Amino acid sequence: QPDTHVRIVEVGPRDGLQNEKKAIPVATKIELIERLAKTGVSVIEAGSFVSPKWVPQMDNSSQIMEHILTRNIPSPSPITYSFLAPNARGVADATTILQKHQGAYLTQTDAFNGGNGKPMVELAVFAAATESFSQKNLNCDIATSLERFRDVIQGAKQNGIRARAYVSVVLGCPFEGYDVNPHKVAEIATSLLEMGADEISLGDTTGMGTAPRTQELLRCMSAAGIRNEDIAMHFHDTYGQALVNTAVSLERGIRTFDSSVGGLGGCPYSPGATGNVSTENMVYFMESLGMNTGIDLDAMADIGQWITGELGKPNDSVVGKAVLGA
Ligand code: HMG
Ligand code: MG
Repeated sequence: QPDTHVRIVEVGPRDGLQNEKKAIPVATKIELIERLAKTGVSVIEAGSFVSPKWVPQMDNSSQIMEHILTRNIPSPSPITYSFLAPNARGVADATTILQKHQGAYLTQTDAFNGGNGKPMVELAVFAAATESFSQKNLNCDIATSLERFRDVIQGAKQNGIRARAYVSVVLGCPFEGYDVNPHKVAEIATSLLEMGADEISLGDTTGMGTAPRTQELLRCMSAAGIRNEDIAMHFHDTYGQALVNTAVSLERGIRTFDSSVGGLGGCPYSPGATGNVSTENMVYFMESLGMNTGIDLDAMADIGQWITGELGKPNDSVVGKAVLGA
């Protein structure tokens, strides 16, 4: 890919919806995914195989995965559908569905051989950079979570499935504030890559990240020998710093960014944190720099307006609203 190509991971159907209190009909979630698939995005995070007691909104992720594997969702280019899976139970539930529909999706080997328009599937684990966030989000300490993730990552890879690994609260923690050690983030990321993760997504869960802290974090990642192509940045926009931090990351050579249509999102275990940086803002910003995302901004803005309306909340994308004259 040319250096001007930026890969956007659309996390709206998962990060965007997981924190919504009212149950969202599965038909609405599927409509969201199908509309996003038409915009030119190459990765859609579609659900979570987590405990429904912890995150009730993600309870119908099995149905969503079944739909993706059986309905041949139209898209201009092949899409990778990503699902969170924090433990053996999550990967077992996902694998049961995948095995039932073998041949309906591309394994990593198929994709390397050129693919044929079928979707790819990815499973994602999520570690934390602080012990208190790990306890709140996963009910275990960091070391225990990493042991569990080893099985998830290996389980995914054995089935030819791509594995993503998040590290949360990398630039600020709701419980430990700015006291997050970037060397610790790099150490956790290194362990996850050694287990076989294909990509590390660095989560600024609280949106507390600033330009200098982003710079310092990425410097520590390089110093630990982690390659830019193995890193994605996942900015929440709580303090309005997401695009500034994106600019810093771009300048350092990062080319994968997570964002959410309509700026939806938030983590149920990060009190006060708001949505991800909106995909509309991200695409507009990338285009202004001459970078190519492959995403149709007008189509994305329409989806942001529609889904926020469905959820009965304001459209949080300033670019989305400007594009629509709303
Ligand atoms: P636990 O309570 O310690 O787990 O939770 P357990 O193993 O003791 O099981 C408790 C119950 O949950 C049992 O059911 C299990 O069967 C069930 P019971 O016997 O009581 O009826 N269970 C499951 N059910 C379905 N799927 C599963 C599963 N696992 C256990 N996979 C656990 C541990 C990890 C399960 C829990 O803490 C959990 O589900 N946490 C998920 C929290 C979450 O989803 N957070 C949001 C996503 S992360 C995020 O948003 C950040 C990110 O966006 C990046 C960023 O912004 O930084 C990614
Ligand atoms: Mg998030």
